[in-house]
Amino acid sequence: MKYQAPKGVKEYLPPASAQFERVREALLAPARLANYQLMELAIFEETEVFTRGVGESTDVVSKEMYTFTDRADRSLTLRPEGTAGVMRAVIESGMDRGQLPVKVFYNGPFFRAERPQAGRYRQFYQVGIEAIGSDDPLVDVEVISIATEGFANLGLRGFKLVINSLGDFESRNAYRLELSRFLSTLDLDEATRERARINPLRILDDKRSEMISALAKAPNILDSLNPQSREDFSKVQQGLDALGIAYEIDPRLVRGLDYYTKTTFEFIHPQLGAQSGIGGGGRYDGLMESLGGQPLSGIGFGIGIDRVMLACQAEGIDISQEIPLACFIIPLAREWELEAFRIGAELRSVGLRIDFAFGDRSLKGGMKAADKSGATFAFVLGERESQSRTVELKELGTGQVQSVRLADLATLLGNAVKRSKGN
Ligand code: HAM
Repeated sequence: MKYQAPKGVKEYLPPASAQFERVREALLAPARLANYQLMELAIFEETEVFTRGVGESTDVVSKEMYTFTDRADRSLTLRPEGTAGVMRAVIESGMDRGQLPVKVFYNGPFFRAERPQAGRYRQFYQVGIEAIGSDDPLVDVEVISIATEGFANLGLRGFKLVINSLGDFESRNAYRLELSRFLSTLDLDEATRERARINPLRILDDKRSEMISALAKAPNILDSLNPQSREDFSKVQQGLDALGIAYEIDPRLVRGLDYYTKTTFEFIHPQLGAQSGIGGGGRYDGLMESLGGQPLSGIGFGIGIDRVMLACQAEGIDISQEIPLACFIIPLAREWELEAFRIGAELRSVGLRIDFAFGDRSLKGGMKAADKSGATFAFVLGERESQSRTVELKELGTGQVQSVRLADLATLLGNAVKRSKGN
């Protein structure tokens, strides 16, 4: 019997996993520099965290959740997104009663039962950040700039940033009414009418071409913003301008989750075809309260690591840079294994990547393994080397050999690694 990973589950094995790590770290680095702190969260939650948090009218909740009952008959769901769980954890731990804003980041797998295709998976990976407890529009700017910094770290250029404002509760409710009135003049099918009843904004997200043309005359959300929402949105734009971050305004951008208010944004990479959203987020004024917490506002983003990797490929960006394997050590016989291991451990402790020929191999077998490993150098350790404290270091690419004292090995390998990174 040969087993396969479940359909639509994206896994990263070597060597692609090194690229995955690099993308993840490039996206997280700007969050750390902006003083966001790691949250390592539950992968499954009580189902209600998502039905209440994300909203019943969304595709994510109504069609895409992996929900199961545990042995005590509790309904649990694999997290389809990160924000509702962050909110649950912040309320549960009382972080919302300490210093505000609470600034956290997270990363890991998320689960949605979607139809798999390129860039759309059932298990996918996100890097996300949330800033909770400040209404200051400059926090919106910080959050968006952390995403753009992450993309810049990778050298990505071909994406665009689209922003919108859904307004505060008052503005959003005024718009909902107006939109409902407009939708009632259209001839909608039963399912769409039901969605419109739960949340009319969802209809703006409808990607069917007949709906796109039917909505051409829909009222513009930006016309419904009250003075406060208008001022906040204009401050967000001023902040982005000040940082030189280019953006387009799209009054149709409502995003697929129900908790959004005020600023919403999305990063689109047109070269990715149907699944072009590489990241998105926005402000959520009522989310914490709807999960039983204080009425604190927050804003954050989720970036899809899988899609950012595809975007890098599409732009021809080489994301394969990892620490090169500096040296492969071949103990000449069992007798010299521990000495070889000790030398290797010392080299690793100064940050060099080192591997060994494990098992009782012949010299020939050991050299073959060294060649296959992709290491820059290799050496053999036997009685002579151990006594003279000198090894014959072979550069595997050129076949050149030089005698190197063990005491000088770390410096020599370190310099070689630096040189190869500089290329
Ligand atoms: P989202 O737009 O649903 O937002 O997901 C964020 C990103 O995750 C998307 O832009 C996309 O890159 C990636 N993504 C989503 N679904 C899939 C999938 N099936 N396969 C591959 N990649 C996918 C959220 O999840 C919000 N929690 C973001 C947020 C944080 N808003 C405020 N704070």
